[in-house]
Amino acid sequence: MPDSQTKNTKQDYLLEMIGISKEFPGVKALDKVDLRVRRGTVHALMGENGAGKSTLMKCLFGIYHKDQGQIFLEGQEVDFQNSRQALDNGVSMVHQELNQVRTTRVMDNIWLGRFPTKGLFIEEKKMYQATSKIFKELDIDIDPRLKMKRLPVSESQMVEIAKAVSYDSKIIVMDEPTSSLTEKEVNHLFQIIRALKARGVGIIYISHKMEEIKQIADDVTIMRDGKWIATKPTNEISTDEIISLMVGRDLTNRFPPKTNQPGKVILEAKNLRAVNQPSVREASFELRKGEILGVAGLVGARRTELLETIFGVRQLESGEIYLHGKKIENKDPRTAIKNGFALVTEERRATGIFPTLDVRFNSFIANIQQYVQKNKLLDEKKIVNDGQWVIESMRVRTPSHKTLISSLSGGNQQKVIVGRWLLTEPEILLMDEPTRGIDVGAKYEIYQLVIDLANKEKGIIMVSSEMPELLGITDRILVMSNGKVAGIVNTKETSQEEILRLSAKYL
Ligand SMILES: Nc1ncnc2c1ncn2[C@@H]1O[C@H](COP(=O)(O)OP(=O)(O)OP(=O)(O)O)[C@@H](O)[C@H]1O
Ligand SMILES: [Mg+2]
Repeated sequence: MPDSQTKNTKQDYLLEMIGISKEFPGVKALDKVDLRVRRGTVHALMGENGAGKSTLMKCLFGIYHKDQGQIFLEGQEVDFQNSRQALDNGVSMVHQELNQVRTTRVMDNIWLGRFPTKGLFIEEKKMYQATSKIFKELDIDIDPRLKMKRLPVSESQMVEIAKAVSYDSKIIVMDEPTSSLTEKEVNHLFQIIRALKARGVGIIYISHKMEEIKQIADDVTIMRDGKWIATKPTNEISTDEIISLMVGRDLTNRFPPKTNQPGKVILEAKNLRAVNQPSVREASFELRKGEILGVAGLVGARRTELLETIFGVRQLESGEIYLHGKKIENKDPRTAIKNGFALVTEERRATGIFPTLDVRFNSFIANIQQYVQKNKLLDEKKIVNDGQWVIESMRVRTPSHKTLISSLSGGNQQKVIVGRWLLTEPEILLMDEPTRGIDVGAKYEIYQLVIDLANKEKGIIMVSSEMPELLGITDRILVMSNGKVAGIVNTKETSQEEILRLSAKYL
């Protein structure tokens, strides 16, 4: 092929990654992967947890060095040695793990290391104005002078997106940008994405949410086990086809059959009101043995707060909790655990993981007492068995149970933490967005495990922002609005519209 022709093909694409391979000790994370992104399009990158999506993007962004392959940006070969170089050349990335400096202010975080200085000093006022300008353009309502740690995760994520936009990039990688966003915020993000597209920016979009892909992506590339599987225009491929290409088998049902039968009341909450408002203002409900109770609501509905109030993270100002008809007081999480409660938190990566320890340790740490024998020594055999259980039943992709948890893919870290709590077989399991960041195949496993627990007469309360999930596996749904219970409905008899209507109820 003549030289000029090769050049022409390359220029058709904004970005071309060809034959990219990357190996970590014991794992072939990428095996000759191709990715071609057209100008002004959203290109979805899909695959199960551990398929290699983040690794491929980190090779582009200069965080990892590819072992093999070539990368072309607007026809020019590039090989960024670090993220600074990538940013300077028009490639930016919103990471799956938020890695902001939490103690700095919003505006420092955005301009970190690149704000024009006057002598030795950064011009505060100019930086404030520049930040405000970007926020205004993107319709983001956050005070640039706030400390990062004061922001809820969803807002930190918006700041991160604003930062990527502020670099005026040609390519923006978004690695699960909506994992902590509410529906309204997602719509806002999609508006921003459409505006970027119109400017000719190429967006590489990683998400496990099928509905989003159909809505926003022009093309989709599917990866499996570190390999390229297919690239197609989104409107030429169905969700079911995407799923079966991802998991390598047909997955006709996204939800396992519901075999659980709710029985007698196990937990009763009466007029709960938490101290330190805004928080739970008024919540009363019953939970039955073998029941899966969903909790729906919009942002600020205080669903997480409800779980935390039950679990003793937040103190009660008034109200009572009865377990098996007996009044109990979960004055702190330790007491709650003793009383048979477990909480899978929403911020699993922030609060749930011991990054410097291995998978096995991370699976049993939640209930270490269970592993202490009479002679005060740890029961090694049980630890190994249970660790293996977590890995197998949650299908965690890891070379071994001795692998550091921090070297697993984001979704696989999540699975370990969820598995750790399922392992404790609590009487009452509280779960906050348990399937966030988890691929479709593994979601199915989690649903199955939750239904199995319900079959063993446990009670489960599950906060979720994913409507299909609430409608797919719960028995009843409690809808919160503004710290109060707006209604409790039977899942079989309700609809998405009714839940949204209750969520929007002004209380
Ligand atoms: N720094 C690392 N050291 C060792 N192994 C790694 C490292 N980073 C990634 N891996 C491994 O590479 C494989 C691909 O991981 P990657 O994070 O790219 O998956 P992913 O597709 O982004 O998954 P997820 O949907 O869970 O985020 C996994 O098996 C992971 O354990
Ligand atoms: Mg990832």
